[in-house]
Amino acid sequence: MNFEFKTFDLTGAAREKCDALVVLFSSNLTTANEPITALIASALKTGDLLDKPGKVLMTYRPSDMAATRLVMASVGEGAPKDVRQAVSAAVLAVKGKTVKKICVCFSHLAKEDAIEAAVMAVAEASYVYVSTKSKPEGRELVRVQLGVPGGIKLKPAFDRAVATVSGVEFAKEWANRPANHATPTHLAGAAKALAKFPNIKCEVLGLKEVASLGMGSFMAVAQGSEEPLRFIVLHYNGAPKTQVPTVLIGKGITFDSGGISIKPAAEMDEMKFDMCGAASVLGVFRALAELNPAINVVGLIPSCENLINGRAVKPGDVVTSMSGQTIEILNTDAEGRLVLCDALTYAERFKPRAVVDIATLTGACVVALGAVRSGLFSPDDTLAAALLSAGEKSADLCWRMPLDDDYSEALKSNFADVANVGGRAGGAVTAAKFLQRFAGKFPWAHLDIAGSAWKSGAAKGATGRPVPLLLAYLLAHAQLKPAK
Ligand code: BES
Ligand code: MN
Ligand code: ZN
Repeated sequence: MNFEFKTFDLTGAAREKCDALVVLFSSNLTTANEPITALIASALKTGDLLDKPGKVLMTYRPSDMAATRLVMASVGEGAPKDVRQAVSAAVLAVKGKTVKKICVCFSHLAKEDAIEAAVMAVAEASYVYVSTKSKPEGRELVRVQLGVPGGIKLKPAFDRAVATVSGVEFAKEWANRPANHATPTHLAGAAKALAKFPNIKCEVLGLKEVASLGMGSFMAVAQGSEEPLRFIVLHYNGAPKTQVPTVLIGKGITFDSGGISIKPAAEMDEMKFDMCGAASVLGVFRALAELNPAINVVGLIPSCENLINGRAVKPGDVVTSMSGQTIEILNTDAEGRLVLCDALTYAERFKPRAVVDIATLTGACVVALGAVRSGLFSPDDTLAAALLSAGEKSADLCWRMPLDDDYSEALKSNFADVANVGGRAGGAVTAAKFLQRFAGKFPWAHLDIAGSAWKSGAAKGATGRPVPLLLAYLLAHAQLKPAK
């Protein structure tokens, strides 16, 4: 999809040739001397159009306008949430109507967050997955113009939003692909392809390298599958080497059967999404490639399948992690933390300013927070505040969860330094407490995205979260430290 930024007002919008002109009008619309506001005013008067976000009215071949269709959509007071709702409803109204080019215009001076919301919502509402369909009916929408009256100042916000869309869609694409089309090797290929962009480098480690690093915990998960593991290392260098990087670690379990502690059959297909953390890291790099901010970022993706064969790790097995700590694997389905802990130890070599891991880690987090907010765990108040506010800014919300030491009691083992599971109680927190043991050498945060990364049911599919949150967090730091 191609996005263009235009600074026209409604008079300019009326002259724009397109398949659909979407006019976002606010509650304090004043009638000017042009056809669009006049039409909106009369439709509001008759009650055919309501001034409520989500309500739209479409007309075909409106007079005095170059557009084939006009969609009038209320944004109420113009809050980002309302803009999102209005744009989604408008895109839905023109779906299946051979609309290739649309022009979305604000009737009023919009703020940065409203522009971002409009761009994100057009992309979201028109996204179609096609990769594994034999007769793909792809996205109809190919060109989107965004019209803001007199708003060239808003171009940077627009650019940010367009890059975020690229990142979100890259993440969705990889997350949605079935596990046989998204193996650890395929993910490594996607990461290597990103290294074609300037400023991005990629290195992929296989079993030999991982073994010599001593990643015994990661290897224990991978050993139950014929599919070889991959440890992906991405570098984005937009700032001088002297600037310490932020490290993002994405859980890359391309399929989680549970292993010997096997999962029930119902909905097991959804465990192809167990690499959504990895997909979000790839998505962030895709967006960084487009924006080129003056920051340094490292992406780490420990990737493998969690399957069952004659060599699979067994409940009760004790393994030695890269940190030297031994782990009693009481439940082979708590595999995410086992691959992440070695990635956390690997991250130490970058002396990072912060490490954020992103993982579809626990069903318990879904129970606690549902699909609305991701779980945020961090012992560092500054880092936690930065991530919370990045979530608010990008409408990709998270919620801070506790990390009291008393939660660690559950992880005590008679046969190793630590067990990989506690009980069912506080499961999202004990998982985070496990990870914290490996994150003592840098400011660290953990995002549990088990509830937010994908949707179940009829609309089954990846959401691309938390790419918007992570980008907002990284870019906030970029503004503080400009290039050179
Ligand atoms: N990938 C799952 C977490 C998950 C479950 C995400 C359901 C989304 C929906 C993870 O590897 C897992 O299986 N966790 C276990 C941990 C338990 C054994 C302590 C869980 O949550 O049941
Ligand atoms: Mn599992
Ligand atoms: Zn898992």
